[in-house]
Amino acid sequence: MRAPQLGCDATSSSSLLLVTLTTILFFTSFVHAVPAPRDRTTTGKQPTKRNLETRDLIDSIKNIFGFNTNTGYGPYQVMTPAETVSVRRGGDFAKEEASWVNGRMKVANRALTEYLGRVGMEGFDYQTFMKGYTPTVGLAFSGGGYRAMLNGAGVISAFDSRNPKAMGRGGLGGLLQGTTYLSGLSGGGWLVGSMVVNEFPTIRQIQNSERMWKLEDSIFSPLGKSYKYYPSIFAQAKEKLDAGFDITLTDIWSLMLSRVFIDKPDGGPNTTLSGVSSCRVFRNFQMPFPMFLANGRAEGDTLIHLNATVFEINPLEFGSHDPSVNAFSNTKLLGSDYRDGRLEDGGKLIHGFDNAAFVMGTSSSLFNQVLIDIKRNDGNIFGGGFIKGLVIRALEYLSKIEFDIADWTPNPFFGFNPEQNPSAITKNLTLVDGGLDLENIPFNPLLVPHRGVDVIFANDNSADVVRFDDGLPSNWPNGTSMVATYQRFQRGLMAQGKSFPEVPDVHTFINKGLNNRPTWFGCDAKKISGNPSPLIVYIPNAPYTAFSNTSTFRMAYKDFERDMLIDNGYMTATQGDGELDPEWPACVGCAVVHREMERRGTVTEQCRKCMRKYCWDGTTNSTRPGEYEPDLKLQPDRPISRPNRPVALNGTYTFSAHGIHRPASPYIEDFTDYSRFRDYA
Ligand SMILES: *[C@@H]1O[C@H](CO)[C@@H](O)[C@H](O)[C@H]1NC(C)=O
Ligand SMILES: *[C@@H]1O[C@H](CO)[C@@H](O)[C@H](O)[C@H]1NC(C)=O
Ligand SMILES: *[C@@H]1O[C@H](CO)[C@@H](O)[C@H](O)[C@H]1NC(C)=O
Ligand SMILES: *[C@@H]1O[C@H](CO)[C@@H](O)[C@H](O)[C@H]1NC(C)=O
Ligand SMILES: *[C@@H]1O[C@H](CO)[C@@H](O)[C@H](O)[C@H]1NC(C)=O
Ligand SMILES: *[C@@H]1O[C@H](CO)[C@@H](O)[C@H](O)[C@H]1NC(C)=O
Ligand SMILES: *[C@@H]1O[C@H](CO)[C@@H](O)[C@H](O)[C@H]1NC(C)=O
Repeated sequence: MRAPQLGCDATSSSSLLLVTLTTILFFTSFVHAVPAPRDRTTTGKQPTKRNLETRDLIDSIKNIFGFNTNTGYGPYQVMTPAETVSVRRGGDFAKEEASWVNGRMKVANRALTEYLGRVGMEGFDYQTFMKGYTPTVGLAFSGGGYRAMLNGAGVISAFDSRNPKAMGRGGLGGLLQGTTYLSGLSGGGWLVGSMVVNEFPTIRQIQNSERMWKLEDSIFSPLGKSYKYYPSIFAQAKEKLDAGFDITLTDIWSLMLSRVFIDKPDGGPNTTLSGVSSCRVFRNFQMPFPMFLANGRAEGDTLIHLNATVFEINPLEFGSHDPSVNAFSNTKLLGSDYRDGRLEDGGKLIHGFDNAAFVMGTSSSLFNQVLIDIKRNDGNIFGGGFIKGLVIRALEYLSKIEFDIADWTPNPFFGFNPEQNPSAITKNLTLVDGGLDLENIPFNPLLVPHRGVDVIFANDNSADVVRFDDGLPSNWPNGTSMVATYQRFQRGLMAQGKSFPEVPDVHTFINKGLNNRPTWFGCDAKKISGNPSPLIVYIPNAPYTAFSNTSTFRMAYKDFERDMLIDNGYMTATQGDGELDPEWPACVGCAVVHREMERRGTVTEQCRKCMRKYCWDGTTNSTRPGEYEPDLKLQPDRPISRPNRPVALNGTYTFSAHGIHRPASPYIEDFTDYSRFRDYA
């Protein structure tokens, strides 16, 4: 069943031709366009030559297809804003966030109290403990394309009390309702975004929906889509141009993604992130506080350093906790002309720049890196046949003119705090994929002291491991992102009062299996110098019921493959529904209250046992590990062989989070070879 899109029917060959032509036209226009200074184009005053040419071209496309859109992708000017037009310094709560968190704490307290009462915690009077105290729980979902989104979805589903299965034995239902902060980056941001902009559906509801997460045909491919697919995307992008803003490839990418993540016709192009703060579920504190991460990338810079500025985008604010920027502005007013932290004299006030899909697209805009590979390998990652060559050529050119970044100009921090803020000198602000500084788990905003997060459940779906025999990626995590965050704060460069527990080197991660099962870091708060860091419950992607290490670049999944990854994530979070450790739900309870138990000096015997089992013991083994070849942790009924290439086995799984019968092969077959592409997220 395909979701209805624009009331269209099957794609005919003549419409394919049209799409091809318009696409070629569209990209060719960029190829001939000359980039012009960006500094004066942000308020519709003087469009660049490139913009003018693009506009003309899209106009002619619109004529061909009879479009007359005003769908709301374009930002628009407002005269009198209800909200404060100013930039604030970081280092403390935004008033609005603080009062929201107050409300959420009551909901979280109820959910966590129920959780602690349900999971068999021994020698622990949970009701008394939770009177007047609520742990601040954070969830962090790493990048890694659809692999990260889907495995992460299984984890969320395991934490969700609305999932009946998660309320049974082994289930962790209620943790999601007890979570205060939910952060996502790149593929993890797609997951967070899919939930928060659609009124917080369950994963099951997303799987059953008509529009969302239909991944059978890649978003690049015209297959299975209306003939208006590409033209309508370009027409929407043009609305932003018309409003006087530069667009980049990230806008196109975002508009494509929106059709998969936003449950509205045409990807709901007028959906904003700030709009989340006025939706009922948010105002009633029925969802956690969402945040997305992206990295700042200076103009002309293609390398992302570990000291790149990490930006946080949430429904209320946009900014960075890093000492370089250390400032926040109102998300709803992004796109407005700021100077020195105030509205510029004669500057415009803008709404609608904070498009929800654009936020998700920005957090996942890794084109530049992809491009380097494509150019080197002339590869085949775009799933969709003939578009491929076109996209590659376009990418190549667009990269040269720095079209491969997300353009967040005008910089709200222009002129603000110039002594510390190196980007205060320019109105330009360009962002890229949040994982490109190697910090692929979105920890940063969960570590700021004023948020006081007690425990972070960090789901790592990074593609790190490289096979020795052939040097190809095998798409399993090896702790690189943990090490990256640790090093960033260890060097003190970007610390700003944040601290992160010690973690070992990646060789130890592999040798001791820390990348293969849940591992806790920072178990002993006394050993952490400086501000207390949250306890980190690291939950790496590993094969439980499926080989869940599909390529980041894989953009097409059959429904049953998608569901296999979601199930695998569920099994990862629940340790095989308690199969691998019946005490796991109680141990997770221990993790939730651990910091407070430590403070009160009341760590229970059971919790000590959990710590012995799950805490990193501080020892290392830094010898070069052998080949990392994890085996399935939960075997289906019949023994499986481990063939080099995927082979379809018949039968059904006994372990299935949602009781769906499907082929017993734990391999997610894929006949496209992505192995030549280096993975970044
Ligand atoms: C801003 O961007 C434009 C090109 O888009 C560039 O010409 C200009 O030098 C940039 N300004 C600064 C201060 O980097
Ligand atoms: C977005 O567009 C739809 C359809 O045109 C409209 O019903 C809705 O009110 C708009 N939403 C916002 C926030 O403008
Ligand atoms: C990051 O580090 C590099 C090299 O170590 C340095 O050149 C650059 O200026 C630093 N950037 C920031 C924003 O501190
Ligand atoms: C760990 O991952 C990084 C990339 O994230 C990779 O460069 C490195 O080779 C990996 N090391 C091992 C031993 O797998
Ligand atoms: C998945 O991991 C297995 C080893 O566990 C490896 O043999 C296989 O090639 C990997 N698949 C992909 C698509 O990377
Ligand atoms: C350290 O790791 C290596 C490589 O995996 C392994 O061969 C060795 O047995 C380990 N040493 C100890 C003491 O566990
Ligand atoms: C799986 O089932 C199909 C038809 O249902 C059959 O053709 C095939 O041989 C079976 N494969 C195995 C490995 O049993």
